[in-house]
Amino acid sequence: MPFNLKNRHFLTLRDFTPAEIQFMLETAKNYKDLKYAGVPHRVLEGKNIALIFEKPSTRTRTAFTVACIDLGAHPEYLGKGDIQLGKKESVEDTAKVLGRMFDGIEFRGFKHETVELLAKYAGVPVWNGLTDKYHPTQILADFLTIQEKLGRLKGVKLVYCGDGRNNMANSLMVGSAKMGLHFVIAAPSHLVPDDELVQYCKNVAQETGAIIEITEDIQNAVVGADAIYTDVWVSMGEEDKFEERIQLLKPYQVTMDLFRRTGKTESIFLHCLPAFHDLETQVGKEVYEKWGLKEMEVSDEVFRSHHSVVFDQAENRMHTIKAVMALTLQ
Ligand code: CP
Ligand code: NVA
Repeated sequence: MPFNLKNRHFLTLRDFTPAEIQFMLETAKNYKDLKYAGVPHRVLEGKNIALIFEKPSTRTRTAFTVACIDLGAHPEYLGKGDIQLGKKESVEDTAKVLGRMFDGIEFRGFKHETVELLAKYAGVPVWNGLTDKYHPTQILADFLTIQEKLGRLKGVKLVYCGDGRNNMANSLMVGSAKMGLHFVIAAPSHLVPDDELVQYCKNVAQETGAIIEITEDIQNAVVGADAIYTDVWVSMGEEDKFEERIQLLKPYQVTMDLFRRTGKTESIFLHCLPAFHDLETQVGKEVYEKWGLKEMEVSDEVFRSHHSVVFDQAENRMHTIKAVMALTLQ
């Protein structure tokens, strides 16, 4: 059944029904098929899209850019320092100006309140490309990948290990509640989502058949898992927290030993990326010199293993972002 999502903002999956999310995933799959077949799909010909980035990005920036161009739209990157946003001009005034120029606005930044303000005042669809609280375009890519690899979403046991209170944990929990997954956060008690969000997800779960669990016991949490997910221990904007997080999260590293505990040879490993799985990064080297860790949230062995679907997820960012833009603008 088709849905009309025209003029909707995309700030968090909380705002969408399971049927609407499924429709976005199906639309993304269609765009992926068209791309693979080399069939043009320039449904946003003549549109102009603003891409605001307060924080760095590889996947989200390039996914939005390529998606815009494939759909026939013009992407305009507005990076940190390029516009006045919040410095010499309020978010409200900036939103009103950009809304006069652009047909849609993507925002990646620090405070979730900023993307809400943009949405309130822009008068055109606003899409969340990551805030401190949510990363909803990532979840669409993750769920498309899970569907492709496991053939279903409903009932899939997805265990998220690590910083259980970051944008990824929050968003995966909302998405899982909506789409009927068995979602477990394995995290130390200091690093769990806020009570309001957990309660909201548990309420949604009662309607969808999802199961939402939070535990400190990672060893038991992963038994029977179809998918294990992790993210960086220190998110963008909290770089002063390495020492504390390493102490808290070392037992939550995803290793091959942990993976074997799933008891399933076909279980998959997911990560939104970027990941610290070796010493090939500047930050990775600094962490090694200071704290002696060669890998952080995931071992290199798991990252490079046949379980790992991380680059499928990365590619699916583009197909799913196409769906979000096309559905909200057409
Ligand atoms: N997963 C993700 O959002 O990656 P980037 O930070 O590179 O956009
Ligand atoms: N939690 C991470 C996600 C990066 C895609 C961060 O916010 O830095």
